[in-house]
Amino acid sequence: MKHIIRAFVEAVAQMYVAKAERGYAPRQELDEFVTLLRAVDWSTDEQTMPPPAIVPGLRHLQGAIAGGYALGPCPIVDALRLCIGVTPWETYYAESDWSRPFLGDFASGELVGPNGFVRSADISLGLFLLGPNTTYTEHAHASSEVYYLLSGEATWRLDRPTNTLRARPGDLIHTAPDQRHDIRTGADPMLAVFTWKADPSAPSYHFANGPWSDGVVVRPPLVNRP
Ligand SMILES: [Fe+2]
Repeated sequence: MKHIIRAFVEAVAQMYVAKAERGYAPRQELDEFVTLLRAVDWSTDEQTMPPPAIVPGLRHLQGAIAGGYALGPCPIVDALRLCIGVTPWETYYAESDWSRPFLGDFASGELVGPNGFVRSADISLGLFLLGPNTTYTEHAHASSEVYYLLSGEATWRLDRPTNTLRARPGDLIHTAPDQRHDIRTGADPMLAVFTWKADPSAPSYHFANGPWSDGVVVRPPLVNRP
């Protein structure tokens, strides 16, 4: 299984290189992501993953995959097709006031990282799926983060409404450490690759009272969640 994941990771690294050369995101940040992706130790044993979980949000996966083909033939889509089937999809959040709005329309799976098939303490990479018209609630974390949109469209709000980004397949979205952000999808499901670096085990803090409120942190963070 490692060779499948490795091909996907290298395809992501190559895409970051291409994006950085076009000035698409903070250059230094992308360079650091690429360095870490290419420093993953592929000689370590694959981890034994827990049995597949029941993840209601996966009902959106087929639609998201179909939308991903809009990117056209490219190494990342070719590698993605193989990785979809080995991704350890999960929801990992307990139901609560802040998670309820998206929990049934959400799935994520880490391929490389502190909890992934291939362990890394330095970087986390995986897939992230949201259903249509779904909000992934406002949160922040110490790790910097890059999403690469494979399918669907979504609005990212960074640091509140002062910085709103509309993302389409092929776009990169960079989130700085501790920058508050949320994601709102459009009419189609959204599939993205996420990467975390610096401290991929750093917690996420989600905020109470809905998106863009001044609520307090309501939940002890779970490790390594984008
Ligand atoms: Fe995030």
